[in-house]
Amino acid sequence: MWYDATIEKVLIDDAQVQAKIRELGQQITADYAGKDLLLVGVLRGALLFIVDLARQIDLPLEMDFMAISSYGAATETSGVVRILKDLDTAIEGRDVLIVEDIIDSGLTLNYIVEHLRNRGPASIKICALLNKPSRRRVDVKIDYHGFDIPDEFVVGYGLDFQQRYRNVPFVGVLKPETYTAPPGE
Ligand code: IMP
Ligand code: MG
Repeated sequence: MWYDATIEKVLIDDAQVQAKIRELGQQITADYAGKDLLLVGVLRGALLFIVDLARQIDLPLEMDFMAISSYGAATETSGVVRILKDLDTAIEGRDVLIVEDIIDSGLTLNYIVEHLRNRGPASIKICALLNKPSRRRVDVKIDYHGFDIPDEFVVGYGLDFQQRYRNVPFVGVLKPETYTAPPGE
């Protein structure tokens, strides 16, 4: 494949990702029966995850999206968060489930939760596919979570390096030299 030469190792393969999403979908289906579920995907990293997750939830639901930008170095969040796209849906009185690709420092998610809480939803919970516990800077309660991973920068299954690699079907780690290559190489 186009990416083979740049991938150091596969951390979580496609089958493991999909099996975990089926499990998460079953839990969410049980917990949200009879509720007014709104999945909120955080663009762009959570795009692949939310699409697969939604198909594993056996309930009526709606989906909406937010886009966030955080200022900081290429592979680090600064904690300063800016909303590039807000929800189109009113969330007052609704059961909101935020769907994230990965929780690293927790700063992005912390900001989103505070921002949405002001609008009076009935509930806000968090579903994240990946978690880097060793990197946490603020406490975030993850209600549904897929995999704990070590402190390594990962790509694939929605996660990017310089906007590429989102379409890689597994979660993997890039070779160190990939980070230092000039853009476009
Ligand atoms: P946090 O605010 O530090 O928790 O950062 C969360 C966001 O940073 C995620 O939604 C990702 O977009 C991005 N991010 C954090 N770690 C990684 C990684 O290992 N690979 C790709 N993106 C990452
Ligand atoms: Mg993200």
